[in-house]
Amino acid sequence: MTPVIFGVSTTRGPRSISDIQYEKMKSIFEEIYQLAKPYLDTRNNEIHTEICIKFAYELLEKEGGDENIVIPAIILHDVGWKRVPQDLQLKAFGPKAMSPKLNRIHETEGVKIAKHILERVNYDENRIVEILEIIDGHDSRKEAISLNDKIVKDADRLWRNSKEGFQIDVERFNEGIVEGLNRIRSNLHKWFFTGSAKEIAREKIRNRLEEIEGGQN
Ligand SMILES: [Fe+2]
Repeated sequence: MTPVIFGVSTTRGPRSISDIQYEKMKSIFEEIYQLAKPYLDTRNNEIHTEICIKFAYELLEKEGGDENIVIPAIILHDVGWKRVPQDLQLKAFGPKAMSPKLNRIHETEGVKIAKHILERVNYDENRIVEILEIIDGHDSRKEAISLNDKIVKDADRLWRNSKEGFQIDVERFNEGIVEGLNRIRSNLHKWFFTGSAKEIAREKIRNRLEEIEGGQN
């Protein structure tokens, strides 16, 4: 039987640790995800969030951290994009971003929406404080404030190296594939906090390179 989590099939290839973890998703997280979904139908955030959740479980497995903070934070970190008009979003993120102010809106609005959702499911008050702090600085804060924060930031950025994320980014940033590959390569040491994320990122870069070379043969 095909396992279905959050309404998405998880058997796309060989099952990894993260897929198995993913199946153990607590029902409270599923509830949070269902409430987040109406805010994720912009900027490819449905697929972005789904992939980030898998990376978050993989990093929790390898690095430790608290899933009761990390998973709600990663589910909710980008809900605020819903409040940034679609025609302005590309000014707010990506290699050609020029408006940190616009980017900041997705964090501050995200905090408000996330707070509303977490209170609605009666989430623990102290945990809500930590989750909102992580969401508030997930892009703009250059340092990580805790291991949980590091994992959320790393899971978010690993998306850029994933097959789906790489394809979507190259297209929306209007880059050539080689240019896109150079972007993820040159940022390897800038983007990630944990050793495990760097290792996963390196592996994904190798995969993307193989796909490009395969495509050229
Ligand atoms: Fe994100």
